[in-house]
Amino acid sequence: MVSKIPFNKPAFFGKEFQYVQQALDAGHLSSSGRFTRACTNLLEQLTGAPRVLLTTSCTHALEMAAILLNIVPGDEVIVPSYTFPTTASAFALRGGKVVFADIRPDTLNLDERHLEKLITPKTRAIVPVHYAGVGCEMDAITAIATTHSLAVVEDNAQGLFGQYRGQQLGRFGVLSAVSFHETKNISCGEGGCLLINDPGLIERAEILLEKGTNRRAFFRGEVDKYTWVDLGSSYGPSDLMAAILLAQLEERQAILARRRSRWRRYADALRSWGENNGVTLPYLPAHCDPSYHLFYLVLPSPELRDAMLRHLGENGVGAVFHYVPLHLSQVGRAMGGRDGQCPVSEAVYNRLLRLPLYNTLDEADQERVIDLVMRFPFA
Ligand SMILES: Cc1ncc(COP(=O)(O)O)c(C=O)c1O
Repeated sequence: MVSKIPFNKPAFFGKEFQYVQQALDAGHLSSSGRFTRACTNLLEQLTGAPRVLLTTSCTHALEMAAILLNIVPGDEVIVPSYTFPTTASAFALRGGKVVFADIRPDTLNLDERHLEKLITPKTRAIVPVHYAGVGCEMDAITAIATTHSLAVVEDNAQGLFGQYRGQQLGRFGVLSAVSFHETKNISCGEGGCLLINDPGLIERAEILLEKGTNRRAFFRGEVDKYTWVDLGSSYGPSDLMAAILLAQLEERQAILARRRSRWRRYADALRSWGENNGVTLPYLPAHCDPSYHLFYLVLPSPELRDAMLRHLGENGVGAVFHYVPLHLSQVGRAMGGRDGQCPVSEAVYNRLLRLPLYNTLDEADQERVIDLVMRFPFA
Protein backbone atom coordinates (compact mmCIF):
# COMPACT_ATOMS: atom_id res chain seq x y z
CA MET A 1 0.00 0.00 0.00
CA VAL A 2 1.34 3.44 -0.88
CA SER A 3 1.76 5.81 2.03
CA LYS A 4 -0.26 9.00 2.34
CA ILE A 5 1.37 12.32 1.55
CA PRO A 6 0.12 14.85 4.08
CA PHE A 7 -0.48 18.47 3.25
CA ASN A 8 1.94 19.54 5.96
CA LYS A 9 4.34 17.77 8.27
CA PRO A 10 6.30 19.53 11.03
CA ALA A 11 9.99 18.75 10.66
CA PHE A 12 12.63 18.63 13.38
CA PHE A 13 16.30 18.92 12.71
CA GLY A 14 17.79 17.39 15.83
CA LYS A 15 18.87 20.28 18.01
CA GLU A 16 15.30 20.96 19.18
CA PHE A 17 15.52 18.16 21.77
CA GLN A 18 18.93 19.24 23.00
CA TYR A 19 17.85 22.88 23.37
CA VAL A 20 14.60 21.96 25.15
CA GLN A 21 16.64 19.85 27.56
CA GLN A 22 18.99 22.79 28.13
CA ALA A 23 16.04 25.11 28.76
CA LEU A 24 14.61 22.64 31.27
CA ASP A 25 17.99 22.28 32.96
CA ALA A 26 18.38 26.06 33.16
CA GLY A 27 15.11 26.15 35.10
CA HIS A 28 14.00 29.40 33.47
CA LEU A 29 10.89 28.60 31.52
CA SER A 30 9.12 31.94 31.32
CA SER A 31 9.43 34.31 28.41
CA SER A 32 12.69 36.13 29.06
CA GLY A 33 15.11 33.22 29.24
CA ARG A 34 18.28 32.44 27.37
CA PHE A 35 16.61 30.94 24.30
CA THR A 36 14.19 33.83 23.95
CA ARG A 37 17.16 36.21 23.96
CA ALA A 38 19.08 34.06 21.50
CA CYS A 39 16.12 33.99 19.08
CA THR A 40 15.45 37.71 19.31
CA ASN A 41 19.14 38.57 18.89
CA LEU A 42 19.39 36.32 15.85
CA LEU A 43 16.18 37.68 14.32
CA GLU A 44 17.37 41.28 14.88
CA GLN A 45 20.69 40.46 13.27
CA LEU A 46 19.11 38.67 10.29
CA THR A 47 16.33 41.16 9.60
CA GLY A 48 18.05 44.35 10.71
CA ALA A 49 14.96 45.34 12.73
CA PRO A 50 15.84 47.58 15.68
CA ARG A 51 13.90 45.26 18.01
CA VAL A 52 12.19 41.90 17.71
CA LEU A 53 9.91 40.51 20.40
CA LEU A 54 8.89 36.86 20.40
CA THR A 55 5.16 36.35 20.79
CA THR A 56 2.85 33.40 21.28
CA SER A 57 1.55 33.81 17.71
CA CYS A 58 1.43 36.09 14.69
CA THR A 59 -2.12 36.87 15.78
CA HIS A 60 -0.82 38.21 19.10
CA ALA A 61 1.87 40.21 17.32
CA LEU A 62 -0.89 41.81 15.21
CA GLU A 63 -2.93 42.51 18.35
CA MET A 64 0.11 44.19 19.88
CA ALA A 65 0.44 46.29 16.72
CA ALA A 66 -3.17 47.45 17.04
CA ILE A 67 -2.60 48.49 20.66
CA LEU A 68 0.72 50.21 19.86
CA LEU A 69 -0.97 52.23 17.11
CA ASN A 70 -3.67 53.26 19.62
CA ILE A 71 -6.46 52.02 17.38
CA VAL A 72 -9.74 53.18 18.95
CA PRO A 73 -13.40 52.69 17.97
CA GLY A 74 -14.14 54.41 14.70
CA ASP A 75 -10.60 54.20 13.31
CA GLU A 76 -10.49 52.52 9.93
CA VAL A 77 -7.92 49.91 9.00
CA ILE A 78 -7.54 48.63 5.43
CA VAL A 79 -6.88 44.89 5.07
CA PRO A 80 -7.04 42.59 2.05
CA SER A 81 -10.20 40.51 2.09
CA TYR A 82 -8.27 37.44 0.97
CA THR A 83 -6.35 36.66 4.17
CA PHE A 84 -6.46 34.81 7.47
CA PRO A 85 -9.15 36.17 9.82
CA THR A 86 -6.81 37.52 12.49
CA THR A 87 -5.24 40.02 10.06
CA ALA A 88 -8.55 41.83 10.54
CA SER A 89 -9.75 40.71 13.97
CA ALA A 90 -6.59 42.04 15.67
CA PHE A 91 -7.76 45.55 14.76
CA ALA A 92 -11.49 44.87 15.23
CA LEU A 93 -10.70 43.81 18.82
CA ARG A 94 -9.69 47.42 19.54
CA GLY A 95 -12.93 48.66 17.99
CA GLY A 96 -11.32 49.46 14.64
CA LYS A 97 -13.49 49.37 11.54
CA VAL A 98 -12.14 46.87 9.05
CA VAL A 99 -12.18 48.12 5.45
CA PHE A 100 -11.80 45.26 2.99
CA ALA A 101 -9.60 45.74 -0.07
CA ASP A 102 -9.46 43.47 -3.07
CA ILE A 103 -6.34 41.63 -4.23
CA ARG A 104 -4.23 41.73 -7.37
CA PRO A 105 -5.14 39.01 -9.88
CA ASP A 106 -1.46 38.06 -10.35
CA THR A 107 0.13 37.73 -6.89
CA LEU A 108 -3.17 37.64 -4.93
CA ASN A 109 -1.69 40.35 -2.71
CA LEU A 110 -3.48 43.50 -1.57
CA ASP A 111 -4.10 45.54 -4.73
CA GLU A 112 -2.41 48.86 -4.09
CA ARG A 113 -4.38 50.42 -6.98
CA HIS A 114 -7.55 50.31 -4.85
CA LEU A 115 -6.10 51.99 -1.78
CA GLU A 116 -6.71 55.65 -2.61
CA LYS A 117 -10.44 55.16 -3.03
CA LEU A 118 -10.71 53.31 0.32
CA ILE A 119 -8.92 56.00 2.33
CA THR A 120 -11.13 58.36 4.36
CA PRO A 121 -10.34 60.92 7.07
CA LYS A 122 -10.79 58.06 9.58
CA THR A 123 -8.23 55.72 8.03
CA ARG A 124 -5.33 54.99 10.38
CA ALA A 125 -3.49 52.03 8.95
CA ILE A 126 -2.93 49.75 5.96
CA VAL A 127 -2.13 46.09 6.58
CA PRO A 128 -0.49 44.46 3.54
CA VAL A 129 -0.27 40.66 3.74
CA HIS A 130 2.62 39.08 1.84
CA TYR A 131 0.56 36.17 0.57
CA ALA A 132 2.58 32.98 0.05
CA GLY A 133 5.66 34.95 1.10
CA VAL A 134 5.67 37.06 -2.08
CA GLY A 135 6.07 40.77 -1.41
CA CYS A 136 3.20 43.22 -1.87
CA GLU A 137 3.93 46.29 -4.00
CA MET A 138 5.57 48.03 -1.08
CA ASP A 139 6.91 51.04 -3.04
CA ALA A 140 3.38 52.10 -3.96
CA ILE A 141 1.86 51.16 -0.59
CA THR A 142 4.52 53.04 1.34
CA ALA A 143 4.13 56.13 -0.88
CA ILE A 144 0.33 56.17 -0.41
CA ALA A 145 0.69 55.67 3.35
CA THR A 146 3.18 58.53 3.56
CA THR A 147 0.97 60.87 1.52
CA HIS A 148 -1.98 60.22 3.84
CA SER A 149 0.05 59.90 7.10
CA LEU A 150 -1.06 56.31 7.65
CA ALA A 151 0.77 53.57 9.48
CA VAL A 152 1.74 50.40 7.60
CA VAL A 153 1.64 47.15 9.57
CA GLU A 154 2.90 44.19 7.55
CA ASP A 155 1.25 40.84 8.12
CA ASN A 156 4.34 38.84 7.27
CA ALA A 157 3.03 35.58 8.72
CA GLN A 158 4.24 33.71 5.64
CA GLY A 159 7.17 35.70 4.35
CA LEU A 160 10.05 35.68 6.83
CA PHE A 161 13.33 36.13 4.91
CA GLY A 162 11.51 36.90 1.66
CA GLN A 163 12.53 40.13 -0.09
CA TYR A 164 10.97 42.91 -2.14
CA ARG A 165 13.43 44.85 -4.31
CA GLY A 166 16.29 43.57 -2.18
CA GLN A 167 14.77 44.63 1.14
CA GLN A 168 13.48 42.08 3.62
CA LEU A 169 9.75 41.70 3.99
CA GLY A 170 8.75 42.92 7.42
CA ARG A 171 11.05 45.95 7.24
CA PHE A 172 8.69 48.31 5.40
CA GLY A 173 6.01 49.00 7.99
CA VAL A 174 6.37 50.60 11.41
CA LEU A 175 5.55 47.14 12.74
CA SER A 176 5.33 43.70 11.24
CA ALA A 177 4.11 40.33 12.44
CA VAL A 178 5.57 36.89 11.68
CA SER A 179 4.14 33.42 12.36
CA PHE A 180 5.99 30.36 13.64
CA HIS A 181 2.84 28.23 13.54
CA GLU A 182 3.48 24.59 12.66
CA THR A 183 2.50 25.12 9.02
CA LYS A 184 5.13 27.82 8.50
CA ASN A 185 8.64 27.43 7.06
CA ILE A 186 10.19 27.91 10.49
CA SER A 187 8.07 26.77 13.36
CA CYS A 188 7.76 26.05 17.06
CA GLY A 189 4.17 24.78 16.96
CA GLU A 190 2.48 28.00 17.96
CA GLY A 191 4.57 31.16 17.97
CA GLY A 192 5.34 34.41 16.28
CA CYS A 193 7.24 37.64 16.59
CA LEU A 194 6.76 41.35 16.26
CA LEU A 195 9.36 43.38 14.34
CA ILE A 196 9.47 46.92 15.65
CA ASN A 197 10.91 49.12 12.94
CA ASP A 198 10.05 52.40 14.66
CA PRO A 199 12.40 52.69 17.64
CA GLY A 200 9.90 55.04 19.28
CA LEU A 201 7.56 52.09 19.84
CA ILE A 202 10.07 49.73 21.46
CA GLU A 203 9.66 50.74 25.09
CA ARG A 204 5.88 50.57 25.01
CA ALA A 205 5.95 47.25 23.14
CA GLU A 206 8.13 45.73 25.86
CA ILE A 207 5.75 46.97 28.55
CA LEU A 208 2.75 45.63 26.65
CA LEU A 209 4.34 42.19 26.31
CA GLU A 210 5.37 42.21 29.96
CA LYS A 211 1.77 42.38 31.18
CA GLY A 212 1.72 46.17 31.41
CA THR A 213 4.75 46.39 33.69
CA ASN A 214 8.20 47.92 33.28
CA ARG A 215 9.75 44.57 34.21
CA ARG A 216 12.29 44.58 31.37
CA ALA A 217 13.53 48.04 32.37
CA PHE A 218 13.83 46.74 35.96
CA PHE A 219 15.97 43.78 34.89
CA ARG A 220 18.18 46.13 32.89
CA GLY A 221 18.66 48.13 36.10
CA GLU A 222 16.93 51.20 34.67
CA VAL A 223 14.31 51.42 37.47
CA ASP A 224 14.51 50.25 41.09
CA LYS A 225 11.18 48.38 41.13
CA TYR A 226 8.71 47.25 38.56
CA THR A 227 5.03 48.04 38.52
CA TRP A 228 1.95 48.53 36.36
CA VAL A 229 2.70 51.37 33.94
CA ASP A 230 0.52 50.87 30.84
CA LEU A 231 -1.89 48.53 29.09
CA GLY A 232 -0.52 45.05 28.92
CA SER A 233 -1.09 41.41 28.33
CA SER A 234 0.78 38.13 28.30
CA TYR A 235 2.13 37.83 24.78
CA GLY A 236 5.52 36.21 25.47
CA PRO A 237 6.05 32.47 24.82
CA SER A 238 7.74 30.13 27.25
CA ASP A 239 11.50 29.73 26.80
CA LEU A 240 10.73 26.10 25.88
CA MET A 241 9.10 27.29 22.66
CA ALA A 242 12.05 29.58 22.01
CA ALA A 243 14.38 26.58 22.43
CA ILE A 244 12.56 24.78 19.61
CA LEU A 245 12.48 27.94 17.54
CA LEU A 246 16.22 28.58 17.86
CA ALA A 247 16.99 25.11 16.51
CA GLN A 248 14.76 25.84 13.52
CA LEU A 249 16.16 29.32 12.91
CA GLU A 250 19.64 27.85 12.83
CA GLU A 251 18.50 25.63 9.94
CA ARG A 252 16.96 28.53 8.00
CA GLN A 253 19.28 28.23 5.00
CA ALA A 254 18.67 24.51 4.52
CA ILE A 255 14.92 25.04 5.01
CA LEU A 256 14.76 27.83 2.46
CA ALA A 257 16.88 25.91 -0.06
CA ARG A 258 14.69 22.82 0.29
CA ARG A 259 11.47 24.79 -0.11
CA ARG A 260 12.83 26.73 -3.05
CA SER A 261 13.80 23.57 -4.87
CA ARG A 262 10.45 21.85 -4.19
CA TRP A 263 8.56 24.99 -5.20
CA ARG A 264 10.54 25.28 -8.44
CA ARG A 265 9.99 21.63 -9.25
CA TYR A 266 6.20 22.10 -8.96
CA ALA A 267 6.40 25.22 -11.12
CA ASP A 268 8.59 23.62 -13.81
CA ALA A 269 6.67 20.35 -13.92
CA LEU A 270 3.21 21.89 -14.03
CA ARG A 271 3.75 24.99 -16.19
CA SER A 272 2.71 23.65 -19.60
CA TRP A 273 0.08 21.35 -18.11
CA GLY A 274 -1.41 24.46 -16.48
CA GLU A 275 -1.32 26.47 -19.69
CA ASN A 276 -3.03 23.68 -21.62
CA ASN A 277 -5.79 23.26 -19.04
CA GLY A 278 -6.51 26.80 -17.92
CA VAL A 279 -4.88 26.28 -14.50
CA THR A 280 -2.98 29.24 -13.09
CA LEU A 281 0.23 28.73 -11.09
CA PRO A 282 1.71 31.24 -8.63
CA TYR A 283 3.16 34.37 -10.20
CA LEU A 284 6.51 35.69 -9.03
CA PRO A 285 7.32 39.29 -9.97
CA ALA A 286 10.98 39.63 -11.01
CA HIS A 287 11.65 42.07 -8.15
CA CYS A 288 10.37 39.66 -5.47
CA ASP A 289 12.45 36.97 -3.83
CA PRO A 290 9.85 34.96 -1.96
CA SER A 291 9.99 32.72 1.10
CA TYR A 292 8.55 29.85 -0.97
CA HIS A 293 5.98 29.30 1.73
CA LEU A 294 3.22 27.73 -0.33
CA PHE A 295 2.40 26.46 -3.81
CA TYR A 296 -1.10 26.81 -5.16
CA LEU A 297 -3.14 26.06 -8.28
CA VAL A 298 -6.13 28.10 -9.45
CA LEU A 299 -8.46 25.78 -11.39
CA PRO A 300 -10.82 27.03 -14.13
CA SER A 301 -13.97 26.54 -11.97
CA PRO A 302 -15.00 25.82 -8.35
CA GLU A 303 -16.37 22.44 -9.51
CA LEU A 304 -13.02 21.45 -11.01
CA ARG A 305 -11.21 22.65 -7.88
CA ASP A 306 -13.44 20.48 -5.70
CA ALA A 307 -13.01 17.55 -8.08
CA MET A 308 -9.21 17.98 -8.00
CA LEU A 309 -9.28 18.04 -4.19
CA ARG A 310 -11.30 14.79 -4.21
CA HIS A 311 -9.03 13.20 -6.82
CA LEU A 312 -5.93 13.98 -4.75
CA GLY A 313 -7.60 12.99 -1.47
CA GLU A 314 -8.80 9.65 -2.84
CA ASN A 315 -5.23 8.96 -3.94
CA GLY A 316 -3.73 9.72 -0.55
CA VAL A 317 -2.56 13.30 -1.14
CA GLY A 318 -3.53 15.98 1.35
CA ALA A 319 -4.32 19.12 -0.62
CA VAL A 320 -6.29 21.95 1.01
CA PHE A 321 -7.96 25.24 0.14
CA HIS A 322 -8.09 28.41 2.15
CA TYR A 323 -9.55 31.79 2.95
CA VAL A 324 -13.18 32.47 2.46
CA PRO A 325 -12.80 36.18 1.62
CA LEU A 326 -13.30 38.00 4.89
CA HIS A 327 -15.98 40.32 3.54
CA LEU A 328 -18.08 37.22 2.72
CA SER A 329 -17.43 35.50 6.06
CA GLN A 330 -20.04 35.48 8.82
CA VAL A 331 -18.28 38.29 10.68
CA GLY A 332 -17.40 40.21 7.53
CA ARG A 333 -21.03 40.23 6.37
CA ALA A 334 -22.13 41.45 9.80
CA MET A 335 -19.65 44.32 9.28
CA GLY A 336 -21.38 45.19 6.01
CA GLY A 337 -19.47 42.95 3.60
CA ARG A 338 -21.45 42.22 0.45
CA ASP A 339 -21.23 40.11 -2.70
CA GLY A 340 -19.31 41.80 -5.48
CA GLN A 341 -17.32 44.03 -3.12
CA CYS A 342 -13.96 42.37 -3.88
CA PRO A 343 -14.43 40.67 -7.26
CA VAL A 344 -10.91 39.23 -7.63
CA SER A 345 -10.99 37.62 -4.16
CA GLU A 346 -14.43 36.22 -4.97
CA ALA A 347 -13.28 34.87 -8.34
CA VAL A 348 -10.20 33.15 -6.93
CA TYR A 349 -10.93 31.73 -3.48
CA ASN A 350 -13.16 28.83 -4.50
CA ARG A 351 -10.91 27.82 -7.39
CA LEU A 352 -7.64 27.71 -5.41
CA LEU A 353 -5.99 24.72 -3.80
CA ARG A 354 -2.65 24.26 -2.10
CA LEU A 355 -0.38 21.32 -2.85
CA PRO A 356 1.72 19.61 -0.15
CA LEU A 357 4.85 21.65 0.57
CA TYR A 358 6.85 21.04 3.73
CA ASN A 359 10.46 20.95 4.80
CA THR A 360 10.87 17.17 4.54
CA LEU A 361 8.77 16.60 1.40
CA ASP A 362 10.97 14.18 -0.51
CA GLU A 363 11.44 13.98 -4.25
CA ALA A 364 9.62 10.69 -4.73
CA ASP A 365 6.53 11.92 -2.89
CA GLN A 366 6.56 15.18 -4.79
CA GLU A 367 6.75 13.32 -8.12
CA ARG A 368 3.73 11.29 -7.03
CA VAL A 369 1.80 14.49 -6.35
CA ILE A 370 2.81 15.96 -9.72
CA ASP A 371 1.87 12.78 -11.53
CA LEU A 372 -1.53 12.68 -9.86
CA VAL A 373 -2.23 16.33 -10.62
CA MET A 374 -1.37 15.77 -14.29
CA ARG A 375 -3.58 12.69 -14.47
CA PHE A 376 -6.64 14.63 -13.25
CA PRO A 377 -9.46 13.96 -15.71
CA PHE A 378 -10.70 17.43 -16.72
CA ALA A 379 -13.54 16.17 -18.88
C1 LIG B 1 -1.63 35.79 6.57
C2 LIG B 1 -1.73 35.25 7.97
N1 LIG B 1 -1.91 36.10 8.99
C3 LIG B 1 -1.99 35.66 10.26
C4 LIG B 1 -1.88 34.32 10.57
C5 LIG B 1 -2.00 33.88 11.99
O1 LIG B 1 -0.80 33.29 12.44
P1 LIG B 1 -0.74 32.55 13.85
O2 LIG B 1 -1.35 31.20 13.65
O3 LIG B 1 0.73 32.47 14.16
O4 LIG B 1 -1.48 33.39 14.82
C6 LIG B 1 -1.70 33.40 9.55
C7 LIG B 1 -1.62 31.96 9.85
O5 LIG B 1 -1.76 31.09 9.05
C8 LIG B 1 -1.61 33.87 8.21
O6 LIG B 1 -1.42 33.03 7.19
